[in-house]
Amino acid sequence: KKYTAIILAAGQGKRMLAGRNKQFLMIEDQPLVRHTLSVFDQDEWCEELILVINERERSQMEELLKAYPVTKQVKFVDGGAERQDSVFAGLSVVENKEIPVFIHDGARPFISKELLHELSVTTYEKEAALLAVPVTDTVKQKVGSRLDTLDRSTLWAAQTPQSFSYDLIYEAHESARKCGYYGTDDASLVERLDKEVAIVKGSYDNIKLTTPEDLHKAKSYISNRREGKVE
Ligand code: CTP
Ligand code: MG
Repeated sequence: KKYTAIILAAGQGKRMLAGRNKQFLMIEDQPLVRHTLSVFDQDEWCEELILVINERERSQMEELLKAYPVTKQVKFVDGGAERQDSVFAGLSVVENKEIPVFIHDGARPFISKELLHELSVTTYEKEAALLAVPVTDTVKQKVGSRLDTLDRSTLWAAQTPQSFSYDLIYEAHESARKCGYYGTDDASLVERLDKEVAIVKGSYDNIKLTTPEDLHKAKSYISNRREGKVE
């Protein structure tokens, strides 16, 4: 069940308040994006590995991979202003269009090979899938002064990877671009075409490192894992 992986690392990490792209931040023994790349590098189902970068950080990223190499070849491509533009840049350099493409945030280093495999199997069956977890908080919706409580049993928090047959996600991106539509994830572009997207239940560990607090969570997660407290 082979797939292509597009890893997004072309953001600025503004909310991390680190003064530079969070992908380069050291988390224990290696930079954030290297943690993420390693999972895909070590998954034998991952056939092609594409890293979407900020063009101004190309040499820095090359240095990073020299200092912290992976075994697979990593294809670099310049990203764009918005995440969606970066995904489109990644899609444009995919070689094998016959296998699913996984789109994953470089800022989610705790994805597991088991979940990658579950997602791949589902994508071969269903054409579009994403990892998501049930929402644990009660979610309120406020429109004007009116407050409502959403039915939590229907709510899922979307994660990445999100995975699609190549033609479907390319079509969804092309259509969104034509309309100037920007979604907050890739599945939403497929939903927009009234196509079905399957949910694969993910893990609450698969957090996106967004704020400084997340760095602390990540560091303790990794040191716990190393001590064998969590698997
Ligand atoms: N990303 C990207 N290209 C962009 C914007 C984001 O490749 N133009 C990537 C980020 O590098 C990140 C992922 O998309 O791995 C998820 O985005 P987010 O967590 O929002 O990261 P940043 O955009 O870097 O952070 P911020 O929004 O706080 O600036
Ligand atoms: Mg962002």
